[in-house]
Amino acid sequence: MNTPRTLGTPLSPTATKVMLLGSGELGKEVIIALQRLGVEVIAVDRYPNAPGHQVAHRAHVINMTDGAALAALIEQEKPDLVVPEIEAIATDKLAELEAAGKITCIPTARAAQLTMNREGIRRLAAETLGLATSPYRFASSLEELEAGAAAVGFPCVVKPVMSSSGKGQSKVDSAADVKAAWDYAAAGSRVDSGRVIVEGFIDFDYEITLLTVRSLGEDGKVVTQFCDPIGHVQVHGDYVESWQPCRMDPVALERARDIAAKVTGDLGGLGLFGVELFVKNDMVWFSEVSPRPHDTGMVTMATQVQSEFELHAKAILGLPVNVALKAPGASAVIYGQHEAAGIAFEGVADALRVPNSDIRLFGKPESFARRRMGVALATAGDVETARVNAKEAASRVKPVIRK
Ligand SMILES: Nc1ncnc2c1ncn2[C@@H]1O[C@H](COP(=O)(O)OP(=O)(O)O)[C@@H](O)[C@H]1O
Ligand SMILES: [Mg+2]
Repeated sequence: MNTPRTLGTPLSPTATKVMLLGSGELGKEVIIALQRLGVEVIAVDRYPNAPGHQVAHRAHVINMTDGAALAALIEQEKPDLVVPEIEAIATDKLAELEAAGKITCIPTARAAQLTMNREGIRRLAAETLGLATSPYRFASSLEELEAGAAAVGFPCVVKPVMSSSGKGQSKVDSAADVKAAWDYAAAGSRVDSGRVIVEGFIDFDYEITLLTVRSLGEDGKVVTQFCDPIGHVQVHGDYVESWQPCRMDPVALERARDIAAKVTGDLGGLGLFGVELFVKNDMVWFSEVSPRPHDTGMVTMATQVQSEFELHAKAILGLPVNVALKAPGASAVIYGQHEAAGIAFEGVADALRVPNSDIRLFGKPESFARRRMGVALATAGDVETARVNAKEAASRVKPVIRK
């Protein structure tokens, strides 16, 4: 690990330079955290004026799945650290550059490779690490999917191996619905690899994200720390609200931490991970992991002494972190509701009149009906009140089209 523990002055020969690959709302907050430490930040995304572009020292627009374009930009900018913020990247190129000693990739190029495809991370978790997961099969044709669905049983969930935010994902209740799920997956896949995973449906009581941080201790060894569990609600595979702390059975919490330590320990490197887990009584299943800040973790901007973004920024620079909770709180997503560029937001003042609330608007140039354009945050004496208040604040923000 090549960790810049001495920090320089941005835009000077001593600069500590970090390149974000993906500059959405999560990247934007990581960039702000890095900026506060005087790090020179280069934001990359596939479209102009992405949220992170607007707060970085330099912005680039490239197709990040194009290995040659990615390598050329890295050669031009020579960052100390390369930080993937999304999954759709030429991760094989990152692995090649890392192996040649040309880059330090966060947390590791292998982690980025394994998590960009559901098959890589699922086989690692279930088959190599022996973690409890839903039963699963992979399929590359409708016939294989039919056999796989029959093997895992109904209901089951079908997902393209390369997709995120619930895209192309559907629940299947019987053999008659398998074809529709196959067609839907092909339409929603990021890269039409024609490959899907079918998972047995886990009838969980609730699901959590366990933010897990690998940072350097005083002795130079990696320390693994856990944030308080974050509960969340997903609609069509996309997060709509989250809260922290999520009350858990102590045995389940212990199991959740054990799973998170194993999977992050195997992926290695430094930084924050979002480990997604399903919980029923004291049983815990591993679902998936992001080797970077997690969308449901936006709540930590209100609830923690250091948000998940600050934790990531500090950990990757080799600095110590503080995972302490500050107050119970919640987040609720603000959707675009319109298909238009340059929308406006009414009601922000009303939203901020909700007690102990706050609003983040991401500044995305273009809105879609189900695009996440902002988030409302709230803290309270208890999580239940915070959830009500975060949802109330979010509902008071009204996206509108202004001519
Ligand atoms: N096997 C499953 N059983 C029950 N619910 C599931 C299962 N797989 C996914 N889900 C639900 O769908 C959500 C999104 O699935 P996930 O695998 O995390 O996809 P994504 O990578 O798009 O976030 C999960 O958070 C969970 O609510
Ligand atoms: Mg997920």
